[in-house]
Amino acid sequence: MKQTENKATLSFSNGSPSIELPIYRGSVGPDVVDIRKLYAQTGLFTYDPGFLSTASCQSGITYIDGDKGELLYRGYPIEQLATQCDFLETCHLLLYGNLPDVVGKAKFVKIVTNHTMVNEQMQFFLRGFRRDAHPMAIMTGLVGALSAFYHDSTDINNPEHREISAIRLIAKMPTLVAMAFKYSAGQPYMYPKNSLSYAGNFLHMMFATPCEDYTVNPVLERALDRIFILHADHEQNASTSTVRLCGSSGTNPFAAIAAGVACLWGPAHGGANEACLNMLEDIQRMGGVGKVGEFISQVKDKSSGIKLMGFGHRVYKNYDPRAKLMQETCREVLSALGLQNDPLFKLAMALEKIALEDDYFVQRKLYPNVDFYSGIVQRAIGIPTSLFTAIFALARTVGWIAQLNEMIGDPEYKIGRPRQLYSGAVQRDVLPIASR
Ligand code: CMC
Repeated sequence: MKQTENKATLSFSNGSPSIELPIYRGSVGPDVVDIRKLYAQTGLFTYDPGFLSTASCQSGITYIDGDKGELLYRGYPIEQLATQCDFLETCHLLLYGNLPDVVGKAKFVKIVTNHTMVNEQMQFFLRGFRRDAHPMAIMTGLVGALSAFYHDSTDINNPEHREISAIRLIAKMPTLVAMAFKYSAGQPYMYPKNSLSYAGNFLHMMFATPCEDYTVNPVLERALDRIFILHADHEQNASTSTVRLCGSSGTNPFAAIAAGVACLWGPAHGGANEACLNMLEDIQRMGGVGKVGEFISQVKDKSSGIKLMGFGHRVYKNYDPRAKLMQETCREVLSALGLQNDPLFKLAMALEKIALEDDYFVQRKLYPNVDFYSGIVQRAIGIPTSLFTAIFALARTVGWIAQLNEMIGDPEYKIGRPRQLYSGAVQRDVLPIASR
């Protein structure tokens, strides 16, 4: 971050002296005005609920140009990563800043693979949940509980602890998600199979049973791997900011990531893929493609409270580049499974077409986001709707941990402590209970 020659001047209409604020430039994207000394110099706070104009940190991991619809991990376009790399190469990139060479990749794959099992006690912890518990409730608990099992990697200020907790989290998330699924299905857990790829092993733990051999379908393996790549990081979104804020207190990495899982659960964030598929199924039940116009009218009627799930984004004011890749994967998976005429896919395409031509969506620059098609792919793979957000959490774990480790290593890092505009009662006295 370089200070520019340009400075911002803040002046006041009440005659208070104006102040100059430094402006910094990143490598690409908008410059930032440094307001850190604003309170000390003026006694004023800034007000920005929802962080619409606030850069909460400096980061070198992910860049989004929302107007262009561009997403880069460490400078590499998402389209190139999704078509030329696999998920573990992408993890290496996000964590260490470079794509591994052949030797580096083999070493990284080996270390992640060595950590895929979870402590055998975890299954007893899992048993405390009801069979119908939502997988995200289970995941919030299981990820937080990891800190009770891996005491040798809980010191966030120790670089070796940070490194090993990162590997453990990336390696164990698929195992935990698959365990949550098997538990709800009443099936025995399947141990990880380290001869398989990261995505292949996940499919194995999800769909194999001890009774029969299971062969991983390479089309589904590749599709799942792509889902993981597309969800791996996304700059300072709500869950990543949650992880940073939680980790800024010095708590252990497992607790910080559990906070990210909890945040991701919401329907405005990671829960949108589940909400989107539920929406498509509801429209299908109402009559399918023929009901799209009626549904869009409901969405446009603000009093209905209905949103077109899988549409819109805080940052993208253009087509989400992940949605394009996901749509491509959707076609591949459906055709590999002989489901080219899948009614939900047809419905999604019809919804997209009408929405993209409608003034309401055009004026507000609302485009499909990654979640619009990801649910259809996951459903075709055989993943139950309630597990979609847990898959998102699995994939986003590497982004969370890379951002957390970047924050701890940043000399400018401080505990996160926003201020407020207080609008409550001014000081008053407590009256005796009989007089209140
Ligand atoms: N359907 C209908 N109207 C919408 C939608 C939608 N999906 N999204 C935004 N709008 C309207 C919104 O009502 C507002 O209208 P007006 O200006 O008349 O008040 C305008 O568009 C601007 O929206 P906003 O709510 O101010 O935008 P935001 O940046 O605060 O919210 C969002 C972004 C993603 C929460 C929102 O677009 C949304 O709720 N989308 C549906 C949920 C969804 O698909 N979320 C997944 C996001 S991508 C995955 C991830 O990164 O988590």
